[in-house]
Amino acid sequence: MESDIAFSLASWIGLHAADIGTAPSTLPDARWLHLFRSAQGMSECERFVNTGVPGEARDVRSQATSPAHAAHTERMPSESNTAERSAFRADLFTGKVAVVTGGTSGIGAATAEYLASLGATVHAVGLGADQNLFPPHLEIDVRELDVTSEEQLRALFADLDRLDILVPAAGISLGERELEWDSFVRVVEIQLLGVYRTIALARELLAADGGGSIITIASMYAYFGGAEIAAYSASKGGVVQLTKSLAQVYAPDGIRVNAVAPGWIETPLLAHLKADAEISARLLSRTPLARFGDAIEIGKAVAFLASDAASFVTGAVLPVDGGYLVTGI
Ligand SMILES: NC(=O)c1ccc[n+]([C@@H]2O[C@H](COP(=O)([O-])OP(=O)(O)OC[C@H]3O[C@@H](n4cnc5c(N)ncnc54)[C@H](O)[C@@H]3O)[C@@H](O)[C@H]2O)c1
Repeated sequence: MESDIAFSLASWIGLHAADIGTAPSTLPDARWLHLFRSAQGMSECERFVNTGVPGEARDVRSQATSPAHAAHTERMPSESNTAERSAFRADLFTGKVAVVTGGTSGIGAATAEYLASLGATVHAVGLGADQNLFPPHLEIDVRELDVTSEEQLRALFADLDRLDILVPAAGISLGERELEWDSFVRVVEIQLLGVYRTIALARELLAADGGGSIITIASMYAYFGGAEIAAYSASKGGVVQLTKSLAQVYAPDGIRVNAVAPGWIETPLLAHLKADAEISARLLSRTPLARFGDAIEIGKAVAFLASDAASFVTGAVLPVDGGYLVTGI
């Protein structure tokens, strides 16, 4: 069964253009955006399988799917139904400026799109910025930027008149190689030091207009270890503690600092997962909401934490995982 799952997931890679639904109605050119997300969202799932995180795989596969769970799964709304529900007013962030690192792919890109769809001026930065990721009418500024470069980050923030929302989402995982020193350092350099470097260099700009909001991106691996992604897990644990610490330090500047901890996030490749009833059921049997998340659902959580609705929320870590974390098995 393990090899079946690995094969199925691996076989998804390269099927990036699969169109498995429609995008939120709040977003312009919704079909295009969904196709874009389809092309971007797999990396983390790939990691979980390709890096062979034992606890993760074992837990998922060791559970037989009970009739009760199957019935429950039947009753769950489909992810496309969920994504189609509009969560916020379309002008929620009009006049606001956002920076999203890791905004050139996956969760970061979906978050950049979502914030832009709510009126924000968004700077989506990361690697591979030449991919023409966004439809021109969203007017997202896409820039090539390496979060290990203080110089590039300084140049970015020097270009901005104001900053209201910062989402340092850039991240990588190198699998088993993370146990080797150079790989360990590389992951931590991007995913923990890069997060703090970005935040620290943005602080003055965020504070300038009376404050702002920082939303870091943690992971389920901030809660438990990953035997073959040690640096990934260590850095995500660090991101959570950094978030809680900076929430205290930045409060006098009017800056709230919170984290979103994504669970298994839906990708186009889920279509293939769903096609295999047994594998799909086993994977989903651990998730009370009985489906994978959509990258846009991380964007929605980010939008909530960035909005006035969360005006008294700082230092919080919000799991967005369909309940995966509370199953404890
Ligand atoms: N996809 C999931 O299920 C999931 C779950 C938990 C946490 N996360 C986290 O969400 C974030 C985004 O992950 P994703 O799944 O969208 O991955 P992804 O590979 O699709 O995107 C990663 C992004 O980080 C950028 N990046 C990598 N190295 C960089 C560097 N040196 N400088 C600047 N940008 C760099 C890439 O260019 C890309 O834009 C990561 O922090 C990841 O750990 C993802």
